[in-house]
Amino acid sequence: MAESMKGLHRTHRCTEVSAANIGEEVTVMGWVQKSRNKGGIIFVDLRDRSGILQIIFEEGDIGAEGFEKASRLRSEFVAAVVGRVEARSGAVNDNLATGDIEIRAKELRILSEALTPPFPVEEDSKTKEELRLKYRYLDLRRPDLQRNLMLRSRVATLTRQFLSDEGFLEIETPMLCKSTPEGARDYLVPSRVHPGNFYALPQSPQLFKQLLMCSGYDRYFQLARCFRDEDLRADRQPEFTQIDMELSFVDVDDVIDVNERLLQKLFWEVLGVKVTLPIPRMTWQEAMDRYGSDKPDTRFGMELKDVSGVVKDCGFSVFTSAIAAGGTVRGINVGGQGEMPRKKIDALVDFAKDFGAKGLAYLAIAQDGTVKSSFTKFLTEEQVQALIAAMDGKSGDLLLFAADKNKVVYDVLGNLRLEIAKNLDLLDKNEYNFLWVTEFPLFEYSEEENRFVAMHHPFTMPMEEDLPMLVAEPGKVRAKAYDIVLNGTEIGGGSVRIFQSDVQEQMFEALGFTREDAYERFGFLLNAFKYGVPPHAGLAYGLDRLVMLMAKEDSIRDVIAFPKVKDASCLMTDAPNVVDEKQLKELEIAVTV
Ligand code: AMO
Ligand code: AMP
Repeated sequence: MAESMKGLHRTHRCTEVSAANIGEEVTVMGWVQKSRNKGGIIFVDLRDRSGILQIIFEEGDIGAEGFEKASRLRSEFVAAVVGRVEARSGAVNDNLATGDIEIRAKELRILSEALTPPFPVEEDSKTKEELRLKYRYLDLRRPDLQRNLMLRSRVATLTRQFLSDEGFLEIETPMLCKSTPEGARDYLVPSRVHPGNFYALPQSPQLFKQLLMCSGYDRYFQLARCFRDEDLRADRQPEFTQIDMELSFVDVDDVIDVNERLLQKLFWEVLGVKVTLPIPRMTWQEAMDRYGSDKPDTRFGMELKDVSGVVKDCGFSVFTSAIAAGGTVRGINVGGQGEMPRKKIDALVDFAKDFGAKGLAYLAIAQDGTVKSSFTKFLTEEQVQALIAAMDGKSGDLLLFAADKNKVVYDVLGNLRLEIAKNLDLLDKNEYNFLWVTEFPLFEYSEEENRFVAMHHPFTMPMEEDLPMLVAEPGKVRAKAYDIVLNGTEIGGGSVRIFQSDVQEQMFEALGFTREDAYERFGFLLNAFKYGVPPHAGLAYGLDRLVMLMAKEDSIRDVIAFPKVKDASCLMTDAPNVVDEKQLKELEIAVTV
C-alpha cells in the first residue's frame, strides 16, 4: 500500500549528503537499488538521479512496525527515509560518493511498491536494446543514461547562455510548414481545414531563419527539433535537435569564430577538455585526397596516397585500365601490419567490396623485406620499389590499393581506413580532434535524378571566384560552405547564404528548376529578398551527435530520452499506429494499403 509523503520534505538528494552532515537529521527519497536483510539489521541502497546512499534500519531506532516495513522493501520500491547521518560503521566504499557515511533511519514510508523490473536497473546493462527501449522509463533510471541526459541538459543551458551573451536572440519557428522537398523526404501532416492539403514538419528552420535576417533580427538561435524521413543509422534519427543559428552582416570567418568559442566553452565547462583555437581547417578537396572522406577522423594517420603516376605504365591491367578510364589508383599504408594473416586481408577485401570496390590489391612487406602481393607479379622490380617508396613503405608494413573512379576509390579507402583503425584499436575516445572542412562543392550530380542537386542546400553562396561557372560548369563550383567535424563525425554544418535574387535564380536554374517552379516553392524567400536583405550566414549542429561524442557513446539513441529504432518506430508507445476510421474521414483521407 502506498503511503503519502505528507509532512515530509526532501532535504537532500542522495549524494548531496556528505560527511559534513554527520550528526544532522536528513530526509531523502528515491528508489531502492538493493536491500540486504542481515537478521537484526537491514541495509538498503537508496538511489536517485544523483547517485546512491546507504540506509541502515534497526528496530531500536525505528520500532517494530518500521522494521517490519523495512523488511518489505524490494528493488525499485520508492521510499522516503528520515534519519541521522553517521560515519560508515562498516568498511568505507571508495566507489560511492557517499561511501564514507550512512543514514540511520528513524522513519520510513513506502511511497510506491514496484513489480520486479524486466532487467536490472544498473550501469552498463548487458540487456538487449529492444527490451531496454520497450521499457525505456526503466532504462532511463540507469545511471549511465541519467548522466547522459544531465550532460545534454548542461550543454543546452551553456549554449543558451553563451549565445545570448553574444547577442543572439532565441526565436521559435513553425513546426507546421510548407513542404519544399529538397534533400531528405518530408514528414507530412494532413490539414483538416484544407482537405487534400498537407503541412510538412521542418527538416530544419533554414528558410525561416533567413527570413528573420531579412526582418533585422541580426543574430538568431534556436534549439530546434527537425524531422527527416531518411534511413536511420547509429547517428541519425527521424527527429533530432539542432543548435541552429544565423547571423547578419558576416562572412565565413565570423561564423567560425563565434562557434569555435562556443565549442571551447562547452568542452571546458562540461568535460574539462581544452580545445585549442583556432581549430584546423581543411578544404573539402584536401580532406578527400588525404582521408577519402569529407568528415575525416584525424586522430590517426594512414592517409591516402595517389600512386597513379607510379603505376600508370605497369603491366597490371586493373590499375592501368582504371587510370585510362579517368580514375586513379590510391593506397593506404597500414603500418606494422605486414604479417597480417591472409584471412584478415580477405576480410578487408570483402569490406572494400561492400563499398563498391571491384577488389583490393595488397602488398605486404615482411620483417625481412620480402614482398607478398596479389599483383606485383605484373610489375617490374623497379616499379615495385617505386610503389613502395611512394607509399613510404617499410619492412613490416601492409599496403592496400584501390583502383577505380575517384568517387569509389575515396569511399573504399576512406572507409577501410576507419575499419582498420577500429580493428587495431587506434581510436581514443578521450581525444577530441576538431576540424573545419571548407570549400565544399556547391553541387553533386545525382545519378538517380539525372541532375545536379545542392550538396548543402540551394541557398548556399558559391565562392565569388567560381561564380562565372555557375550555369555553364556547375560541377566545378565551390561553395562558401563549412562543416565542423569531430573525430570523424559531422557534428555541424552551415554556409554563407545567397542574398542576391539574381544569383539565387541562377542557382535554381543550375538545379534544373524553372522560374515558375522556383517561385512556386520558394517565392516567399525570393520576394523577401526584394525588400532589402542583409548578407547573412549560419550554421547548425546536430545536438544529439555533439552530446553523443561528449558522452563517449556510439549511438545517438543513448543521449535521446525517447528515441526511435531503425524502422522509425517507438518500441515503447508503438508509434506509428493505425488511426480511427473517424479521424481519417475528418481528414478526407483514404488509406490504400
Ligand atoms: P544539415 O542538414 O547539415 O544542415 O544539418 C545540420 C546538422 O544536423 C545533424 N543532423 C542529424 N542529426 C541526427 N539525425 C539526423 N537525421 C540528422 N540530420 C542532420 C548533423 C548536421 O551536421 N539548415 C542547415 C544548417 C545551415 O546551413 O545553417 C542544415 O540543416 O550533425
Ligand atoms: P583479378 O585480376 O581480378 O584476379 O585481381 C587481382 C588482384 O587485384 C586481386 O587481389 C583483386 O582483389 C585486386 N583488384 C581487382 N580489382 C581491383 C580494383 N579495382 N582496385 C584494386 N584492386 C583490385
